[in-house]
Amino acid sequence: MLKGKSLLCLLDFSKQEIEKMMEVSFQMKNFYILRSVPRSLDGKTVAMLFEKPSTRTRVSFETAIRLLGGNPIVLNKSDIQLSRGEPVEDTARVLGRFVDGIAARVLKHETLELLAKYSNKPTINLLSDLSHPLQALADFMTIKEKFGEYTSLTFVGDGGDNVLVSLMAFVAKMGLEIKVASPKEFRPKNDIMKRIEEEAEKNDAIIEFYEDPYEAVRGSKVVYTDVWVSMGQENIAEKKKELLRNYRVTADLMKYAVKDAIFMHCLPAVRGEEVEKEVIDGPQSAVWDQAENRLYTAMGILSLLL
Ligand code: CP
Ligand code: NVA
Repeated sequence: MLKGKSLLCLLDFSKQEIEKMMEVSFQMKNFYILRSVPRSLDGKTVAMLFEKPSTRTRVSFETAIRLLGGNPIVLNKSDIQLSRGEPVEDTARVLGRFVDGIAARVLKHETLELLAKYSNKPTINLLSDLSHPLQALADFMTIKEKFGEYTSLTFVGDGGDNVLVSLMAFVAKMGLEIKVASPKEFRPKNDIMKRIEEEAEKNDAIIEFYEDPYEAVRGSKVVYTDVWVSMGQENIAEKKKELLRNYRVTADLMKYAVKDAIFMHCLPAVRGEEVEKEVIDGPQSAVWDQAENRLYTAMGILSLLL
């Protein structure tokens, strides 16, 4: 049911389709452990385009393509004609003639839409200024592994964060609950928030914004944060750090969550900014499991879409 589709935003998928993505990701984890990964990408080539740096996404995705029997081609923007002004549309048309799928990490979400439209090949969002769907899938996989179900969670920090948008999209589609503690200056763009709220309404999901992080974290099983300054926001770094200084995940804040609560972060992290060292490096931290699950969700998505 998902073959040939692009994954630009989780909101473009039904609850059943997202459940399928999760189911296949869990299957991929088992196949990987049993060393019996199906070669479902045999003979297929996937271009991976990067306009920004990446460690986890780059390595998990390339490894996933190879494990499934496919051929990855990594294209850093500076190495291709896009950096000399070749239009995205032309780049997409040409890639579409060579490869079976495109995955891209882009500065502007619209670039993904152009890549999908003009390549006519399944296109996968590896992070944009708007969202990071593969991260949210790995995160909810981790939550399910830890608690046996998708629990509610609290996000503390930048309320306009791209990872948060994908977490909220997942919550809205699956009828879950998320609390967001953030200064009111930071919210997702209006049009995406409107879509998330409409989906939440349809599926009885709960999305609540708080200004007080202690109130938002009280009783939570999962406390999530991301960097205060995302890639591409360097020009507003000082302003963001100033406004977010009371939204650090500290050991004291974690005490307001339930006793067996976990701490999550998509990484890379800046210890001492959005999270204290003793939290991210402490016993409640689930960040390495989250990172590992990026591999299985990449395998799941690739095998479903391609
Ligand atoms: N979480 C994540 O996407 O990490 P990278 O930027 O290293 O890919
Ligand atoms: N919000 C971060 C996520 C990095 C994986 C960024 O966009 O830089």
